Amino acid sequence: MGIASPVEPPPRPGRVLVTGAVGNVGREVMHALRAHGRLVRGADLSVNAIRAMHGDEIEAALLDYQEHDTFAAALTGCDAVFLVRPPAIAYMESTLLPFIDAALAAGVKHIVFLSCAGAATNKLVPHHAVERHLAARGVGHSLLRPGFFSQNLGVAYRRDIAEDGRLFLPAGRARVAFVDIRDVAEAAAMIFDDPAMHKNAAYDCTGPEALSFEEAARLMTEVVGRPIRYEPASIAGYVRHLHMSGLPLAQVAVQTVLHVGLRFGQSEKIDATLERLLGRRPRTLATYIRESVELWALPLAQAVRAECGFAPNG
Ligand SMILES: NC(=O)c1ccc[n+]([C@@H]2O[C@H](COP(=O)([O-])OP(=O)(O)OC[C@H]3O[C@@H](n4cnc5c(N)ncnc54)[C@H](OP(=O)(O)O)[C@@H]3O)[C@@H](O)[C@H]2O)c1
Repeated sequence: MGIASPVEPPPRPGRVLVTGAVGNVGREVMHALRAHGRLVRGADLSVNAIRAMHGDEIEAALLDYQEHDTFAAALTGCDAVFLVRPPAIAYMESTLLPFIDAALAAGVKHIVFLSCAGAATNKLVPHHAVERHLAARGVGHSLLRPGFFSQNLGVAYRRDIAEDGRLFLPAGRARVAFVDIRDVAEAAAMIFDDPAMHKNAAYDCTGPEALSFEEAARLMTEVVGRPIRYEPASIAGYVRHLHMSGLPLAQVAVQTVLHVGLRFGQSEKIDATLERLLGRRPRTLATYIRESVELWALPLAQAVRAECGFAPNG
């Protein structure tokens, strides 16, 4: 009987390019990949912003999906890409799709795409075209399809909550299995550890419990220590609200489609996929709110008014 040879670890790609490296998800993917001991290069609209966030020693590249001449330098020497579609980019044909082609030409072997729940069938979301393009081009890829981020409460809705004490969105009475971005990022890092195992796979990513927005608002009220209510928006009211906040129309349209999808239970189902990938229970919404409570602190003047009944001068 021969001596069994030791099992070889699966080959890991070399350098990973993380797009959207200063955005909500990209920044956490950068942290997760570095914690896994990986060689990373961050790409975003500003090299200075990448260095300010991730340190001067980090490899940083300028990437603008609308400027194709930024693609080659960002991709050179990378074996894998974490691909984010920025919310401001609605048209894929002239942006992410050519970037995928450039990645292939540059020798990239695996792309992990941050897609979204429902993208396989919903042609109205831009991620659908990207998923199809990845499949058509035959590049090794993995799809992460999260539903609704816990972090939305601290980013997109932070101002409404901090200043008006309200969560305002067109989700009706939907329940949502809030997923924590840090868990999605950890899943991405695990995929890059063994891309062959995750080749052409798609993963729905949800948190471990589904809450209504009334329940989320109650939780915030308890943790933040002042009243926060959920105010269901009509679709027209929400479009107006986004428009008034200064978002371009294409982004207003995509964001509204994604949020209205919540009403139809798009992000309600709790899925065990992420728990299986991570080998542990994903973080709950309550964990995120407790760890981020300072995000919803009242602006100083309002806090003083609430405490003392008058506003400070200046
Ligand atoms: N929110 C959710 O619940 C949820 C759920 C599932 C999926 N998703 C998907 O997640 C994605 C958003 O991820 P995120 O929250 O990490 O986004 P994000 O925080 O907005 O990050 C996107 C990054 O890309 C940069 N960027 C903007 N325009 C660019 C361009 N032309 N070329 C290259 N980079 C550009 C942005 O820079 P600037 O900030 O300077 O513009 C930003 O740093 C979207 O596709 C969304 O549909 C979100």
